[in-house]
Amino acid sequence: MHTVQLDHHADFDAWRAQARDMCAARVHPTQLRFVPPDREDTLLDFGVLGLREDRRTVVASKDFMDRAARVACHSHPERYDRLYRLLWRLQDQPSLMRNTVDDDVRWMVEADKAVRRDRHKMHAFVRFRKVGESAPLESGGRERFMAWFEPDHFIVDLATPFFTRRFPNMDWAIVTPYRTAVWDGEALRFEAGGTRDDVPETDVVEDQWKTYYSSIFNPSRLKVAAMRAEMPKKYWNNLPEAALIPSLIAGAKTRERQMMDSLNHDPNPIAEKAIYQPEQVDTDLAPPDVAALWEQVEHCRRCDLWEGATQGVAGVGPDDARLMIVGEQPGDKEDLAGEPFVGPAGKILTQALEEAGLSRGDAYVTNAVKHFKYEVRGQRRIHKNPSVSEIKACNVWLEREIELVKPDIVLCLGGSAARAVNGKAIKVGENRGRVLERADGLKFFITSHPSYILRVQRYEDQPKAYPDMVADLRKVADLLAA
Ligand code: URA
Repeated sequence: MHTVQLDHHADFDAWRAQARDMCAARVHPTQLRFVPPDREDTLLDFGVLGLREDRRTVVASKDFMDRAARVACHSHPERYDRLYRLLWRLQDQPSLMRNTVDDDVRWMVEADKAVRRDRHKMHAFVRFRKVGESAPLESGGRERFMAWFEPDHFIVDLATPFFTRRFPNMDWAIVTPYRTAVWDGEALRFEAGGTRDDVPETDVVEDQWKTYYSSIFNPSRLKVAAMRAEMPKKYWNNLPEAALIPSLIAGAKTRERQMMDSLNHDPNPIAEKAIYQPEQVDTDLAPPDVAALWEQVEHCRRCDLWEGATQGVAGVGPDDARLMIVGEQPGDKEDLAGEPFVGPAGKILTQALEEAGLSRGDAYVTNAVKHFKYEVRGQRRIHKNPSVSEIKACNVWLEREIELVKPDIVLCLGGSAARAVNGKAIKVGENRGRVLERADGLKFFITSHPSYILRVQRYEDQPKAYPDMVADLRKVADLLAA
């Protein structure tokens, strides 16, 4: 029996190097033990193996290795042995991973799910407490934060790079029982674990966080059972907002009414700091209804835009609407509010629809891209156009919305929406104002994007832009009335 000692719990790199070597030298899985620090295996024989000379080339797909890297974080003490057994078997059975009833394959799939679920919980439920400043802020000091978290698996290395992207501008440490992650703005390093007592219970930003949580709490999307499943009691101790949940649920109906009255939300100054970001879970590309589609969009990682966005924003409106309106992507206000067209462009849209005799409430309003793309300039997030690949990556959601709602006509606002619905680039100027038809029979119609109207109104260089848009919308109204 040969033994490989691993230095830390999620030591995937060491496993990979050793596993490749051993597998090349044809060391059978029964002759090898991988021993991470959490494994208390007393019957180990530390003998050294004579490795065979006739080495073979070891092959494993990228997908397998990506999964293996996550499964290495699982808390099962024999996870590395099981991964090695799979790697060994893959050499003679290249399509083994497609055999979903195989015990080893099933185990790997389940272990991977458990690790991803745990990572998602960590991203969602870590709450930082302010513990001071590295130096006075005026002289370039940085705020310092700490958080306590108890993961089920060894996910600190896997899950904490997310926080470096999310909170690059503050110093923070996340303490867990087995490992602590420390970020100083430049490098992420790992130290020994700690205890709950290492992290203060409350801090000065907690009230701000509660205010923020109350303000983003969306009563019209309240699902109590889903919320409880998502936020198990185990995490409540760490969550300042947990104390608010009962009263928010109780007041949800009143708030929903208030929200319908006023769809405008000012950006919250601490939104940048305190954002709930769900991590990837399996996405079902054909959700059965619009509510399920919302859930899926929330977890979508088909491109990178989710990283900077507060949340995914899918469509709103009757799911049997005859008119579907497609914009480009949520803007700053939509990203915070979680609804399309609630900002300045939304006001222009609502006004133009009314002038054309159309009711916005009767339409299903959505976007070609479901996450906000922007660049930060000073304190502001400035809209950036989505790329063709981002539009394509998001197209599954738009197409599913079209399948579910089955509109009589789709109104595309601007070039990105037109490209998404048409499936390839199409010029707005040459094609606006008339009914177009896709190969599958879907009727669509192109007009200007309301942000374009806002822009040209500001500089007064296109006085006809808005009347032209209203004229286009009148044609849509006539079509629907016919
Ligand atoms: N612009 C869009 O295209 N969509 C929105 O939801 C808001 C602004």
